[in-house]
Amino acid sequence: MRSYTASVTPSPIIAPSILASDFSRLAEEVHAIEGAADWAHVDVMDNHFVPNLTIGLPVVQSLRKATKIPFDVHLMINDPARWAPAYAEAGAYNVTFHAEACDDPVALAKTLRAAGAKAGLAIDRDTPVEPYLELLPYLDTVLIMTIKAGFGGQKFLPEMLDKVRDVRRRVEVGGLEVRIEVDGGIAADTIEQAAEAGADAFVAGTAVYGAADPAEAVRKLRAQAAKHMGI
Ligand code: DX5
Ligand code: ZN
Repeated sequence: MRSYTASVTPSPIIAPSILASDFSRLAEEVHAIEGAADWAHVDVMDNHFVPNLTIGLPVVQSLRKATKIPFDVHLMINDPARWAPAYAEAGAYNVTFHAEACDDPVALAKTLRAAGAKAGLAIDRDTPVEPYLELLPYLDTVLIMTIKAGFGGQKFLPEMLDKVRDVRRRVEVGGLEVRIEVDGGIAADTIEQAAEAGADAFVAGTAVYGAADPAEAVRKLRAQAAKHMGI
C-alpha cells in the first residue's frame, strides 16, 4: 500500500489519467487505483488550447473530498495564469500548465508554489524544450508530451524522448530536484524506453483504465519503469 509520502530513493511515479476512466463513476474509478498509484492525473481541457473539452475546477474540488491520492492536474487551457492558482487552492498536489499558453512561466510557477502546490511546465509535441531548460530551477515537474496534447488513446511518439534526455541531462548537471514526466501512449510496450531516456513520472490512461484490473496494471507499469530507470 502506498502511503503518499515522499520517498528517499527516487522511485517511479505512476499517474493514471482519469481521462480514460468512466466519468459517470469518477470517485470509484479513482478508488480503483488508490493504493497502487502515486498520483491521479487530471486532464483539464478547455476547447480552446486543445479542441477537446473535459473537466474543470468544480470536478476537481468535488473529487478532492472523495480521495486522499495526490492530484496531478494537467491544464491544457489558454490563459493558465488566470485559472491555474485555483487548482492549487483546491488542493492539487502538482499543477502543470503548458509552455505554449503562458507568457511568464516563472511567475506562474512562483504563484503556484506560493499557493502550496508543486509547479509543472508541459511541452507539447511541436515545441522544442531547449528554450525552457533554463527555467528548471523554478519548476518541480516538467511534462514532456509523447503525443500531441488533446486526446487519450494516441500512438506514442518515440522521437519525443530526445526532449526527455535533454531535460534529464540538465537536471543531473544542475543537481536539480525536478520530476520528468511523460504523457501520451505510455503502456507496457513504451514505458521502458521512456524510463531509459530519463523519465521518472509516467502518465497512463488507456493502459490503466483499459485494463481489466487497473491497480494491477499500475503495479506492472511501476515494475517495468523501475527496472529501466537509469537514475
Ligand atoms: C492527452 C492527455 C493524456 C491522456 C493520456 O492530451 O494529456 O494525459 O489522458 O492517455 P493515454 O495514456 O491513453 O495516451
Ligand atoms: Zn495529461
